[in-house]
Amino acid sequence: MAYVLVTGGAGYIGSHACKALKAAGYTPVTFDNLVTGWRDAVKFGPFEQGDLLDRVRLDSVFAQYEPIAVMHFAALSLVGECMLDPGLYWRNNVAGSLNLIEAAVAAGCLNFVFSSTCATYGDQDNVVLDEDSAQMPINAYGASKRAIEDMLHNFETAHGLRHVIFRYFNVAGADPDGEVGEFHRPETHLVPLMLDAIDGKRDALTIFGTDYDTPDGTCIRDYVHVCDLVEAHVLGLKWLSDERGSRVFNLGTGTGFSVREVVDQSHAVTNRPVPCHEGPRRPGDCTKLVSGSTRAMAELGWNPHRSTMKQMITDAWRWHQSGHYEA
Ligand code: UFG
Repeated sequence: MAYVLVTGGAGYIGSHACKALKAAGYTPVTFDNLVTGWRDAVKFGPFEQGDLLDRVRLDSVFAQYEPIAVMHFAALSLVGECMLDPGLYWRNNVAGSLNLIEAAVAAGCLNFVFSSTCATYGDQDNVVLDEDSAQMPINAYGASKRAIEDMLHNFETAHGLRHVIFRYFNVAGADPDGEVGEFHRPETHLVPLMLDAIDGKRDALTIFGTDYDTPDGTCIRDYVHVCDLVEAHVLGLKWLSDERGSRVFNLGTGTGFSVREVVDQSHAVTNRPVPCHEGPRRPGDCTKLVSGSTRAMAELGWNPHRSTMKQMITDAWRWHQSGHYEA
């Protein structure tokens, strides 16, 4: 059995990755401490509850399954929280990843796929962001992810740890079959907050800033459907097994949507009004974050065909209406 150890497999992106791995013939082993993940989201392979800071537990899971690769999604990722408590991010994300990487190397598992972020580029408004752009994170979350990227390079030099790093832009949507979806507590992301507002589960959406230097005054982001995103990870595994060398890929489509465009599309898809009002800018938000790179498409053969705003909202709305995990 070709096991892949999926840290954070009970979370939003990790659970979709497990489904994609299973469809591709692998057996995903979810390793998750359930601090931000959901037991109900583990549906596609074995579950091992554990914390990345527990090296003994990690060693025993590596020994039990002898995975051919690691996909590392587990991380804290709230920008607001990391500003208040950076230690949490350095301990959980960086020290936790160091444990995981050392355990993988000790077990001889030398294929590693890492979930990084465009937050490692920092606040570079209106700059085309490709994989060679300078990494200047402005918060502990982005800094923690950049540190893990550095760690992977060092462990490759010393121990031959082959790795693929994916720097995500904004992830949205849900499994079209409705088996897994996006469910955070607390929720801070635009699409689920907006869908909650549409069906009255929350107060009206606040649009954070309408005076940005964009055509309609609201921030622009590059949204990727979660199913397209995880498909890139499966291609990343193939890249590693083909021994094509360690590589960094941005995962964005190169198309930006403003907050107002997302709101308008949600109105069109749900056929319901979107209760929203305009508010001040949210500290730390960049005007425009859009990937300027087509490397993943050119080199991995990645085809993000589901990443239209209509499809992402349609799938997120279906999931939103069909139920959530047990909180
Ligand atoms: N937004 C609103 N109102 C809300 C929530 C969001 O107007 O209630 C706006 C934001 O200002 C932003 C856009 O919607 O312009 C998207 O915001 P999200 O919070 O959904 O996503 P971010 O772009 O802030 O964050 C994403 C990831 C982070 C990552 C960051 C990198 O979710 O993990 O990109 O820049 F750090």
